Amino acid sequence: MTSPVSADLAAAAVAVLNKNWAGSHTLPATGLYPHQWSWDSGFIALGLRHIDADRAQQELESLLNGQWEDGRLPQIIYDVTRDDDYSPGASFWKSTDHPDAPIVPTTGLIQPPNHAWAAWEVHRINPDASTRNGFLNRVYPNLVAWHEYLGTRRDRGGRGLASVVHPWESGMDNSPLWDEALARVPDTPKHEIRRPDLQHADAAERPSAKEYGRFFWLAEQYRDHGCDDLLGEDSFVLEDPAFNALWARSELALADIARSIGKDPMPHEARAQLLTEALETLFDSELGLYTARDVNIGALVRKATISGIIPLILPQLRQAESVLGTLMGPGFLGDGPYMVPSYDLRAEDFEPAQYWRGPAWFNMTWLVIFGLRVQGAHEQEAQRLAANLQQLALEHGFPEYIDPVTGAPHGTRNFSWTAALSLDLLRAEQAPGTD
Ligand code: SER
Repeated sequence: MTSPVSADLAAAAVAVLNKNWAGSHTLPATGLYPHQWSWDSGFIALGLRHIDADRAQQELESLLNGQWEDGRLPQIIYDVTRDDDYSPGASFWKSTDHPDAPIVPTTGLIQPPNHAWAAWEVHRINPDASTRNGFLNRVYPNLVAWHEYLGTRRDRGGRGLASVVHPWESGMDNSPLWDEALARVPDTPKHEIRRPDLQHADAAERPSAKEYGRFFWLAEQYRDHGCDDLLGEDSFVLEDPAFNALWARSELALADIARSIGKDPMPHEARAQLLTEALETLFDSELGLYTARDVNIGALVRKATISGIIPLILPQLRQAESVLGTLMGPGFLGDGPYMVPSYDLRAEDFEPAQYWRGPAWFNMTWLVIFGLRVQGAHEQEAQRLAANLQQLALEHGFPEYIDPVTGAPHGTRNFSWTAALSLDLLRAEQAPGTD
């Protein structure tokens, strides 16, 4: 039976997703993020599939329109009419001058590869209709090319894992994981830094001016060497556990997609297995979780962040028991915070409202709930997190992130993936096993 709270949540989440719909894709938030973002679209499609599966397909396919010749799926596809509203914009990247770039303007950078996973889940919501309209057949070649790009151009450490060459690529822009590597990057870019983001979110909840200086410097470096990954000239090269875990999960989904359209699933299964094994090189036994590896200096970053817990979404994860222990311990869920903090609660520089330096994010908590279920562990905790996630989403108008301990909302509101993922959890509860 539908409770009044769940009816309210469904109506409010649908209203956010409708308001942020831009005709062919969904804006993460109309003010702060006025373009199409890559991994946002992956998460958003997981919610849209419950409203209108065709629209969820369109969300993903409009992102694929931004794919480069080399297979990369860009972090942002720009709406040129809003170039002043977000920085860096299309005029910074000038991607359409690049021989490999598509006709739509994009960044040269990428974001975590959750797309094949999302495509498979969109298909599964109504497989007959999806098969009739040929969705999987259409997207499969693009998704294969995207994963090939990661395998051939981004294996910068030579161990089978993809590297990010900019903090924006991890999706966790100012995570403490990047501090040491960023400290080696100049904060003096040529480009004048504008901060339209600060009109839509409190400066104390966004990356700092110094971080922005370094973000722009790195983006200029990448742009100015033609976004060429094979030159080996990047100052920032790190292997991130969440990025690679999402790739492995998406590779498993690509195997399902291949099987469903009569192609060979084996190469995808093999790669998922190789990635899961390679992730073990990012395990830090003292921290009891996975962490990033700085490829330029060949060392692990000794910080306990949410990124190192996300590999729980993978079956056959060798260190799952240890990560579950860390997750349920005092640094993360031990004292019963509302949702999963992005950084160890006990860290000296933990900041409860500062973007990726402490707040709990709805997509991360959704992934942890999924991971607990993959591992068949702590189902009660998964249910507690799912209930909190839905309640906080509704109560605070779909915030971007929250203080994990007090539940206070931060960042922007009416945030699309918060709406999409709370709707997804609600639907899973209403019809268990059918989604
Ligand atoms: N998260 C970035 C921003 O805040 C973009 O990917 O602008």
